[in-house]
Order: sequence, then C-alpha cells, then structure tokens
Amino acid sequence: MIDLPDFPWDRLTPLKELAGSHPEGIVDLSVGTPVDPVPALVRQALADASDSPGYPLTHGTERLRAAAAGWLRRRHGVTVDQADVLPLIGSKELVAWLPTLLGVGPGQRVVFPELAYPTYDVGARLAGAEPYATDGLLSLGPERVPLVWVNSPSNPTGKVLPTEHLRKVVAWARERGAVIASDECYIELGWEERPVSILHPDVCGGSHEGLLAVHSLSKRSNLAGYRAGFVTGDPALVRRLLEVRKHAGMIVPGPVQAAAAAALDDDGHADEQRARYAARRAALRPALEAAGWKIDHSVAGLYLWASNGADCWSQVRELAEKGILAAPGDFYGPAGASHVRIAVTATDERISAAVRRLQ
Ligand SMILES: Cc1ncc(COP(=O)(O)O)c(C=O)c1O
Repeated sequence: MIDLPDFPWDRLTPLKELAGSHPEGIVDLSVGTPVDPVPALVRQALADASDSPGYPLTHGTERLRAAAAGWLRRRHGVTVDQADVLPLIGSKELVAWLPTLLGVGPGQRVVFPELAYPTYDVGARLAGAEPYATDGLLSLGPERVPLVWVNSPSNPTGKVLPTEHLRKVVAWARERGAVIASDECYIELGWEERPVSILHPDVCGGSHEGLLAVHSLSKRSNLAGYRAGFVTGDPALVRRLLEVRKHAGMIVPGPVQAAAAAALDDDGHADEQRARYAARRAALRPALEAAGWKIDHSVAGLYLWASNGADCWSQVRELAEKGILAAPGDFYGPAGASHVRIAVTATDERISAAVRRLQ
C-alpha cells in the first residue's frame, strides 16, 4: 500500500456543520473553488466541439498549443515553441504524477515549500520517493535531488517569489542537475506584487533547460469543472512527459481542448474575473483586520493568510461560530499552525454576509 496522508478535509466536517447552523447559512471560504459563470465564449467553443467521436491527441491540438504559447507571450513575456506545450487534465493531475512521470523513485527526495498545496507531498509518495518540505535549499547540503517544486503566487500564503530569488533557485538547480517545476496556477492574480514566471528571460536567462512551468485554467477562466491546464518548458523534458502520457492515456478530452484554446485566446473574461476577485478581497481584508486578524503575505492569489495569534483550529472555530468556514493553516504544513486560509472565491452576496458577520 502507498503511504498517503489522511485526506485532511474530513477533519473539518464538524466545524462545517457548526458554520452551517448559522440562521443565514454558511459562508464557505475554506476552498478556492470558482463560483462565477464559465465565460460564454468558452461554453460556445465546448459546444461547437461536442461532436467528437475520435481519440484526441495526447499532445493536444495545434490550436490549443498555439493559444497557450500566445497567452504566455502576450501576458507573461515568456516565449515557448507551441511544440513544447503539453495539455493537462487540470494541473493537480501533473502535480500528483510528475515525480512518477520523471522516473523519480525510492531513496530520492522531492522538495517543495514548507507551507504548500498538499499534492506536492502526495506526488512524492505516489512515486515511492521521499517528500521534503523546506524553504531553504541550502539545508540539502551537497545532496543531489531530482525535483524541486516552487509555487508563486503561493497557495496558501499568497506570497510572490521575486525575480532575484527565482534566479538563485534556477542557478542552484542547474548546478545539481535538478528539475525545477514551477506551479504558476495563480500567476494572473497579482495584487500588490506582479508574479513572474520561471520561464521569463529575467529569471532563466533565456534557456528553459531543466525547467517546467505548470499552468491552470481553473482560476483564470472559471474552468475548474472542465479540468484544463498545461505544462511547458524544457523541450527534452516535455518530450519525455509526452511519451509516458501517451502510454498512460493521460489525454485531455477534445471538446475541453477546444474550450481551453478559446479561453487562452481571450483576455477580456479573465480581466473581468480578476476585477471580481479584487473587489471581494478589498471588502473582506479590512473586515478581517477590524475583527482582529492580521493578514500576512497575501499580495497575490485567491487567499488571505490570516492570524489572530491563536491556534489555527480555535480560529476556525471562532469564525465557524459566525457562520464562516476557513481552512486551518496546518493543512498546509506545521508552519501554518497559527494561521487560517480564507478564500475570496465566494459570491458577492456571501462575501457581503461574511463582512457583516465580522462586524
Ligand atoms: C497551488 C495549486 N496548484 C494546483 C492546483 C490545481 O488546480 P487545477 O487542478 O484545478 O488546475 C491548485 C488548486 O487549487 C493549487 O492551489
């Protein structure tokens, strides 16, 4: 049996019930799931491609790959060849399987941030490798590691890694032959700071060797339900991933590929969605601060990383008594034990309810 952690969300159930007993209903800010409509042009593209009897290409249509490369160039100053784009069945799938796909295994460590999305740890375990959470690569000494994850903007903290920091991580990895996988699923949601891709020339010096950037359409385009993302970067690594994925049947459905291409080609809907999140964040943040919570990091992304100094589970309880559900910080690592993660992904009506309840 693979040694997987307990699914932590089950532990939140009693507090979810408590928040749900509020007379005006729960405000669930514990998960970052989109709640706004799928953009009409994306739904149309899905519908137009619905007569799809044949097998889709694992490598994706040229249309989708070109749209992904065009989006990276237009929005993030990153140039990749469309041949080096590989569609994903949502980015969580790659986070969970990348160590396995790269042939990482027993006796090797997969490195990821101290406070992190839990699936990096799961991916290491699925490969039989050892998960290793650290923010200090120097703690590894001379050890050679096969794979290092970075995540900027971060889930859960909303921290952005500056260009200079990323440049040092790339130099460190290249000296040791480590692959850097950069999870950039919140890259379009910079508020006080602007996130930069690992593939940006200011970070990598123009060469993508040893680097992979992982992108998701879930948050940018409200497409979590479609399962659509892509990975790109080092051409040799992408080719290797493609080969294994072809054998393993890791194929994005054709209509979803068409919808993802339409989403990546259009910036209007993404800007509208960004404005919705900005307004919700602007309402919620001062309400939490006035109620005694301090917000740390949180300069980008969809979460407020908040603390009132108490243990995270007492903070979740305190909020649940007001009918608001947050995620305890220790879901993301022991370093999160005195924080809660509060998502800004609820509807305007639910965010207003939370603001009232915090007063
Ligand atoms: C840091 C991070 N990576 C990856 C994902 C997975 O996103 P998806 O599978 O919807 O693309 C999430 C989802 O919340 C996330 O927070």
